[in-house]
Amino acid sequence: MLKVILVASGKGGTGKTSLTAGVGAALAQAGQRVLLIDGDCGLRNLDIVLGMSDRVVYSFADVAGGAVMLCDAMARHPVYENLYLLTAPVALPALSERGMEQLAVQAEEAAFDYLLIDGPAGLPAELSWLAHISTQAIIVTATDRACIRGAERCARKLEEEYCIQRIRMVLNRVRPQMICRGQSANIDDAMDEAGLPLLGLVPEDEDLIVCGNSGNSILSVKRSGASHAFQNIARRLEGERVPLMKI
Ligand SMILES: Nc1ncnc2c1ncn2[C@@H]1O[C@H](COP(=O)(O)OP(=O)(O)O)[C@@H](O)[C@H]1O
Ligand SMILES: [Mg+2]
Repeated sequence: MLKVILVASGKGGTGKTSLTAGVGAALAQAGQRVLLIDGDCGLRNLDIVLGMSDRVVYSFADVAGGAVMLCDAMARHPVYENLYLLTAPVALPALSERGMEQLAVQAEEAAFDYLLIDGPAGLPAELSWLAHISTQAIIVTATDRACIRGAERCARKLEEEYCIQRIRMVLNRVRPQMICRGQSANIDDAMDEAGLPLLGLVPEDEDLIVCGNSGNSILSVKRSGASHAFQNIARRLEGERVPLMKI
């Protein structure tokens, strides 16, 4: 059965797009069929991080609006053959709940196992269309307190207004020395403040920035901490019990 997961955050720049690309590739590498949607209307960049800018023509709004079928609109990743992308429209489109439902139905009919939505930052109006078809959410946050408060606010809205029951948090850009020195929230504090269970920890990793710029997958970088973290998160989404990585 198709799992539809919204990747969201309170503040911007927390690592949603990097996580969507990395976890999507990890799931595809493990044999799952994965459709990624760039839900950041007007600010799309998932195609750049995936190295697919030359492949995207249609947006998810074209499919939700009935202008084109999903199978004709989605673009296949050049390396991971189970990984597909539907980009975001350049301007905020007129969407409907029914159109978004039709998109999810087409993803199910195309035998996708996962639909991962790279959401916009914060709580803009278009979040409601993306949340409408989502059954789970991953809130990505950095370890600073302002960002964690934003994560908490975003999670409550997804839970209360859009009835998403399964919401978990990923702590990104974790820097152990700052935690040891008490300069950023530790993991227990972060979970308490956000009121969310932890899906994973992702360390600060320069390779992620390099790969994001070149369009190469972080999974191709041996010994990358972020790559390891994304693979662990993919395994947890699959229901495996994977211990937290030592950072
Ligand atoms: N764990 C990390 N280590 C280092 N840089 C990161 C990490 N996560 C994200 N970044 C960088 O932070 C910037 C914003 O990340 P991005 O995934 O685009 O965030 P968002 O989609 O939430 O706006 C990018 O330059 C990205 O490479
Ligand atoms: Mg983004």
